[in-house]
This record gives sequence, C-alpha cells and structure tokens, in this order.
Amino acid sequence: MMKVVIATHNKDKLKELKKGLIKLGIELLDLSSFPEIGEIVEDGETLKENAFIKAREVFKKTGLPSLADDTGLEVDALGGKPGVYTARFAGENCSYLDNVNKMLDVMKNIKANDRSAVFKTVMTFVDDKTELFSIGEVKGMIASEKKGLGGFGYDSIFYVVNEGKTFAEMSIKKKNIISHRGKAIKNLIPKIESYIKADTNTKESA
Ligand code: IMP
Repeated sequence: MMKVVIATHNKDKLKELKKGLIKLGIELLDLSSFPEIGEIVEDGETLKENAFIKAREVFKKTGLPSLADDTGLEVDALGGKPGVYTARFAGENCSYLDNVNKMLDVMKNIKANDRSAVFKTVMTFVDDKTELFSIGEVKGMIASEKKGLGGFGYDSIFYVVNEGKTFAEMSIKKKNIISHRGKAIKNLIPKIESYIKADTNTKESA
C-alpha cells in the first residue's frame, strides 16, 4: 500500500485531513513518525507557495510522497487580511484564542452586513515525479461573538450563513463537507488517483 506523509504538526488539521483522505485507500503517516522534522519555516508570499514549501521539505527529508495544506482567512472589511498571516494575526507565537480575540476587537465597529470573509486552503502533493495542488474555499461571516466548542483556530467566529452555524458548532464530518479544507481535499483526491493510475500503468508497460 502506498505511504503518504501529511506535512503538518497541527493535530487539529491532521484530524480533518485524515478523515477526508480515507477514501484514497493509502497509508497516511504524519510528522509524529519523523520527530527529526521540526517546524518548517513558511516564508512564502502566498498560500500556494507555503503549501509547496511544506510538502517539498517533507518529501526531501522522508523520501515519501508528501501532502500539505496552507490556509488563510480573508476578511473583506480588512482588505483581505490576514490572508497568508492568518496563523500570526495576533503576533508571533500567539494562540488560537489570541487570534480570535484580536479579530473580534478589530471588527467590533463593523456592521453585521459588512463582516463577510472567505476561508481558503491550498493543498499540495509532492513526490519525485510530480507536484499537484488543489484549492478549496468557503464564504462566511465573522461573528460578533464566539459560538460553539468544536473545531480549532477561528472556527468559533466563522459563521456559515446557509447552515446558520459557526464551524465550531458543527461535527468534523459536517465541517469537512462544506469547509475550505474539505473542498481542497475533494479536489485533490481525483488528481492523486489519476497520477497513481498513470504511474502504475507506466511501470506495468515498462
Ligand atoms: P496554516 O498556516 O495553514 O497552518 O493555518 C493558518 C491558521 O489558520 C491556523 O493557525 C489557524 O489559526 C487557522 N486555521 C486553519 N484552518 C482552520 C480551520 O479549518 N478553521 C479555523 N481556523 C483555521
């Protein structure tokens, strides 16, 4: 069975990624199997660059096909910020709660109708022969207060209008159906499947 390493130290992301990728029928490893790989510096200027930095680095160090995701929250009232700086919105080494509190604070005078935002994920797959990527997006509103206990990051203030709930009020299963990450996974799976099939055919006819 093919082995793929998920290039993240983030346990919350890992849970969602593993659930979403089950369909691929491959063995999914994560960085806990490679303790020598520390934090990877994400100094790209876009989500795509950062997602490729992570997958390439883990492929280089493990020699195994690697998958990564990079996610950003773009808030319209903030001109698309924090975007690529979503993890560090409240400063270096800040917690999820610091980021949520900063977002609530900077948005405190913004009217309900003007609180629209988009969560975006770019997922990447890298091995010795190919580099693939996919994108997933979901529109929502920045809530004026935290709601729900599930999820992670900004989930308690990311309100999905069609569902009438924040991500933190949904199960992982439900979140994965509609979320940025869930959609990016769904868009990447057929690309990986086609690649594996083409690669197997090439080997068989060689
Ligand atoms: P990263 O750079 O892809 O690790 O993610 C940037 C930041 O976005 C994370 O530190 C989280 O705060 C936030 N984030 C990523 N994915 C989600 C999500 O699914 N829900 C809420 N926040 C998220």
